Amino acid sequence: MQTYNLALIGFGGVARALAEIIRDDSDHLADAVGFRMRVVAITDLNLGTLTQPDGIDLDAVLALPRGTNFAGLPGGSAEVDNEAVIRDSNAAIVVEATFTNPETGEPALSHVRWALESGKHVTTTNKGPVALAGTRLLELAAQHGRRFEFEGAVMSGTPVLRFASQMLAGNRIRGVQGILNGTTNYVLGRLADGLTLDDAVREAQELGYAEADPTADIEGSDVCLKVSILASRVMGVDIAPEAIPTEGISGITSEDIETARHNGQVWKLIGSVTRTPDGTTTARVCPIALENIHPLAGISGATNAVTFDTDLLGQVTVSGPGAGRVETAYALLSDIIAIHAQGGPAA
Ligand code: HSE
Repeated sequence: MQTYNLALIGFGGVARALAEIIRDDSDHLADAVGFRMRVVAITDLNLGTLTQPDGIDLDAVLALPRGTNFAGLPGGSAEVDNEAVIRDSNAAIVVEATFTNPETGEPALSHVRWALESGKHVTTTNKGPVALAGTRLLELAAQHGRRFEFEGAVMSGTPVLRFASQMLAGNRIRGVQGILNGTTNYVLGRLADGLTLDDAVREAQELGYAEADPTADIEGSDVCLKVSILASRVMGVDIAPEAIPTEGISGITSEDIETARHNGQVWKLIGSVTRTPDGTTTARVCPIALENIHPLAGISGATNAVTFDTDLLGQVTVSGPGAGRVETAYALLSDIIAIHAQGGPAA
C-alpha cells in the first residue's frame, strides 16, 4: 500500500487535528481510502522546524507541553525556514495551514508557489491564496503536473467545492447563495436571544469560530473571500474580492431583529453569486431578512449552508460545519484523498 509523505506548514489547531487523525486512525483510513500517511516535516512560527525523513514520531510531538519548541526533539530546531523545508524535504504533499493575512494571502501564497514549483502537491485551508490567486496557482500546478486542492477554504470539511464540480457536473449553475460564516450566523442568533454584539462576538471567539481578528467575520470580509472563491471555482468567473460589494452585520440593531421576527423573517448574512439572463455575473455580501420558509432561514448556530441554483436539478442545498479544528482537518484529508484519486504523488 502506498504511503504519502506530508510536510505540515503551520502547526496550529487544524494541522494538529490532522496529525491526531493520522496517529489515531491510520488503520481505519488505510482500509477506507487505500493509502497511509507519514508526516516527515513540520514547521511553525512559534515552535520551529522538525524534520525526520523516515517519519516523525507524532506521539512525541503531540505530547510536547504547550509552547515548547521542537529544538529538543531529534531533527528539531527552534528556527524556521519554510522555503527550505517546502522545497527540500522529502514530502510529496505540502499541507499548508498557517496563519495567513487574508488581504495579501501571505505567507500561504508563497508556500503554495514554492511547493508547486518544487514538484509537490498542495492542500491548504487558507482562503487568501485561493481567492486572490486561485486561477494562477491552478495554472502553476498544471504546469508542474501537480494538484492544488483547497476544499477547506469554503465551509471547512463540508464538501461544497468538490460537490459542485463533481456531483453537480453537467448542470449549468445559475447562482449560489449561502450562509458562509459561522461566527456571524451564531452572533445573529445570540442577538435574537437578547445579547449585545460585543457579548455575542466574545462567545463566538470562546467557541473558536471567529477569525483571529473577528472584524473579518463581522464586517463580511471573510464571506467576501469565500464568495470570490465560489464565483471562480463554481461559476467559472474570476471576481476579485475588492469588486464584491460587502456589508457585514454590525449595522443590525435589536429593533431590526424584532421587526423581522414580527414579520416572520430572520436576519442572515448572505453571500451570493448570480448569473443574470444576459450572461453577466454579479456577487455580493449583505445581511438579508429571509422569510422563515426560505431554505437558509432555519440554518442556526455556527452551521453554514449553500444553495446551488442549477438548470437540471433546481435548487440543491448543502449544509454542515463551516469551521472547527477537526472539521477543517477533514478538509485537508479529503484533499489528500482527492490527490490520491487523481493518481497520487509522483514526487
Ligand atoms: N471565522 C470563520 C467562520 C471560520 O466563522 O465561519 C471559517 O472560515
